[in-house]
Amino acid sequence: MQRLKVLVTRRWPAEVEARLADAFDVTLNETDTPLTGAELAAAMGEYDVLCPTVSDRIDAAVINGGGRVRLIANYGVGFDHIDLAAAKARGIAVTNTPGVLTDATADIALTLILMAARRAGEGERELRAGKWSGWRPTHLIGSALKGKVLGCVGFGRIGIATARRAHHGFGMKIAYYGRRPCEDAVVQELQAEFCPDLNDLLDKADFVSLHVPGGGETANLIDAAAIARMKPGSYLINTARGGVVDHDALAAALKSGHLAGAGLDVYPAEPAVPPALLGIENVVLLPHLGSANAETRIAMGMCALANVEAFARGADLPNRVA
Ligand code: DGY
Repeated sequence: MQRLKVLVTRRWPAEVEARLADAFDVTLNETDTPLTGAELAAAMGEYDVLCPTVSDRIDAAVINGGGRVRLIANYGVGFDHIDLAAAKARGIAVTNTPGVLTDATADIALTLILMAARRAGEGERELRAGKWSGWRPTHLIGSALKGKVLGCVGFGRIGIATARRAHHGFGMKIAYYGRRPCEDAVVQELQAEFCPDLNDLLDKADFVSLHVPGGGETANLIDAAAIARMKPGSYLINTARGGVVDHDALAAALKSGHLAGAGLDVYPAEPAVPPALLGIENVVLLPHLGSANAETRIAMGMCALANVEAFARGADLPNRVA
């Protein structure tokens, strides 16, 4: 295996960094400070492999910044932060880490569904502020999940895993919107209703949960018109990418009461959070925790490592996206 020169842009789990350091000439980011665009562009000329994450913007300017990198091994499944066309034009391969974060992300979708439906964030804020005056029958009344329709926008691995938890664990009915119906076994298992038109899903879902990739055709998919189409008193859950949602329209719908609540884990320009949301009580705001458990973060690192190792051996890349 070639001893490639590898740059890891953020801190990774210690066991994965150790494996990388054994096999390659690795530069780690000890301080975990995000690299600037100029630093990333310079790295393209100094390393054989760049290992970025969702917090690095690998645009055409970065990619064209140097001519040495031959592999971008992303730590994460989403790759909308990488300009694949620019990479392809330069003959740079791009890989991701699919599969290993499905369960963790579905768990966070359920966390958001439960927190929004049961007003957990509002309750915790009230209690910590010393404003809880005690139990009473009308205090912080939320919504039950049993019998409610979970509408999944996108029904790939994470959408299905979320639907399984919601259906088998909480008795929710499942509807989904996607390019095509999913396999029969899943449809049978979840009694899932396919909506070929997004509006059909928005008309019937009590909880709309987003599971589409970011960028391209999904940008602003849940715009003001889509939010207006959602059922009065329904909830929007986003563990996918922030750019899928019009946050000004979402804030207005939460304030007016058209939507009962929302739960968000992702934002368009992280770590910035759309200011309109920050003062609103009926929205749960998490800091992109979808894959944040120890087992998953190690598995993501090992998956990225497997791609770098395959590249070093000249083998087929297990998770090539470009
Ligand atoms: C990904 O892998 O794309 C996630 O958003 C990180 O948790």
